[in-house]
Amino acid sequence: MTVEDVPAVHEIEKRSFPSGTWSIDAFYHEVEKNEFGHYFVVEAEEEVIGYLGMWIVIDQAQITTVAIREDKRGMGLSKILLEYIMNYARLTCEMMSLEVREENAVARALYEKMGFSYGGLRRDYYGAGQDAKVMWVRLRDE
Ligand SMILES: CC(C)(COP(=O)(O)OP(=O)(O)OC[C@H]1O[C@@H](n2cnc3c(N)ncnc32)[C@H](O)[C@@H]1OP(=O)(O)O)[C@@H](O)C(=O)NCCC(=O)NCCS
Repeated sequence: MTVEDVPAVHEIEKRSFPSGTWSIDAFYHEVEKNEFGHYFVVEAEEEVIGYLGMWIVIDQAQITTVAIREDKRGMGLSKILLEYIMNYARLTCEMMSLEVREENAVARALYEKMGFSYGGLRRDYYGAGQDAKVMWVRLRDE
């Protein structure tokens, strides 16, 4: 993801997370300033149609956000994107984790398919009464 991609990414973000959206400045900050941030886009015909972000801190990777544009969902793109970033993170990380809303059955099914397991609950993570499930996967053994 480059600075030029951010407006298109933020459009997808607004439509994908109506109950809580990152600001456009949050994306600029992640891409330009966060030394731990690693952000990727999926493009088709030079248009951004999906994105994924993660933080890598020493040997731990944490997915911060992922979405595919509505009209491109159900085609296996997020599986390809996750496989790509899991291989990328595997070079330096032993584990990858993420938070997901309990009611987001589609995302939970995706993560389970990619080998993630439940690790616990973060209470009120998305606001009062809105808990997050923590999911994680081991990327390599040592
Ligand atoms: C979650 C999301 C990224 C999945 O992207 P996608 O490219 O449509 O997913 P894929 O086509 O790669 O499907 C991957 C797996 O997700 C699950 N899945 C996808 N669409 C599904 C649906 N409509 N119902 C149930 N499971 C579904 C399936 O397990 C699927 O694997 P399969 O095709 O082998 O059955 C997409 O739905 C999205 O952007 N949602 C809004 C944002 C969001 O919720 N992000 C996750 C925040 S934690």
